[in-house]
Amino acid sequence: MSYRIPFNKPGLAGDELRYIADAITQGHSAGDGDYTAKCHAFLQARLNAARVLLTTSCTHAIEMAALLLDIQPGDEVIVPAFTFVSTVNAFVLRGARPVFCDIRPDTLNLDESQVERAITPRTRAIVPVHYAGVGCEMDAILATAARHGVRVVEDNAHGLFARYKGRYLGTFGDLATQSFHETKNIICGEGVALVINDPAYVERAEIVREKGTNRARFYRGQVDKYTWVDIGSSYLPSDILAAFLYAQLERYEQIDATRERIWRRYDEGLRDWARENGVERPHVPEYCRQSYHMYYILLRSQEDRQALIELLRERGILAVFHYLPLHLSEMGRRFGGREGQCPVTESVSDRLLRLPFYNNLTESEQGEVVAAIRSFAAQAVVHRVLQ
Ligand SMILES: Cc1ncc(COP(=O)(O)O)c(C=O)c1O
Repeated sequence: MSYRIPFNKPGLAGDELRYIADAITQGHSAGDGDYTAKCHAFLQARLNAARVLLTTSCTHAIEMAALLLDIQPGDEVIVPAFTFVSTVNAFVLRGARPVFCDIRPDTLNLDESQVERAITPRTRAIVPVHYAGVGCEMDAILATAARHGVRVVEDNAHGLFARYKGRYLGTFGDLATQSFHETKNIICGEGVALVINDPAYVERAEIVREKGTNRARFYRGQVDKYTWVDIGSSYLPSDILAAFLYAQLERYEQIDATRERIWRRYDEGLRDWARENGVERPHVPEYCRQSYHMYYILLRSQEDRQALIELLRERGILAVFHYLPLHLSEMGRRFGGREGQCPVTESVSDRLLRLPFYNNLTESEQGEVVAAIRSFAAQAVVHRVLQ
């Protein structure tokens, strides 16, 4: 079914096609051409990272992180149960055992108070996910990691240039990832930046990204031929995708301002309705500057959530739920996941609804979404009165 108001529409900033044509006609459409270098420079300067490397997806960047941390069979990695499969699968691919922690009921981020208890002598990494681009409690997570000599990999798929206590997300962990998948704020179809904050990982990251070869050193003239020096894979994206991405990065401020406006319109339009109907709105701590990646609401029950999805669908509006609890998935259960283990995740997963959110969502379209949601409450009241 096609929707009048879809959940997502990949937004163009203006120069994408021109830059893509340029990348093609310049004759360097493979990886690590001029546009890749421009994206690297832009992101590195802004994040003040030791190194930023574009890779083919956030999934691949997390896999690279697992390779760089040298995760071995039997190692344990602490992950939130409420996240995308890639956050966890990347480590499981190396033989690690995921240890699922619950999320906080307010920000829906990894509950830092549970991390300490989950640590064992086998723990190698903690992987906080900044849900909806709102920062996890990084002070506590970093302190726990430091106390136990454990690495931190931030899955910041949602939170490009969002901040926690003034500092950019993706700059706290030893390694971090920023997704540019077409559903994110800044896009290139499929792609990601691996952010390397600990300089000790830089050289090996270049090798792992280039099929286990030292080709990056060869291009810089540091060796006279390149060869196979480590394990790795083909993790570098075509310069055509980097050209797409650079056109978006250049317009980052404009895209961010647009998304902030959309987010605020939802929040203002739904505030009193949410209060009157026991529906929760996103919580953003005052020391967090979010990325305005999504707008979600938490209904009182799964039944309410499904009924609202249906009402919106009848009006041509697509609103969607999000992650299913990973500890209860087929794979999660193989690692001992069971009902009741992460109660907040289980409840949130049933009740969360994401509203249409894209850069060219018009004010009138958004008004329709808000009006439809507000009418849902009215129907529910009428329904209750009739009973
Ligand atoms: C938290 C999180 N991590 C990782 C990913 C995977 O990103 P990609 O599609 O770029 O591989 C997603 C996908 O949406 C995600 O939500």
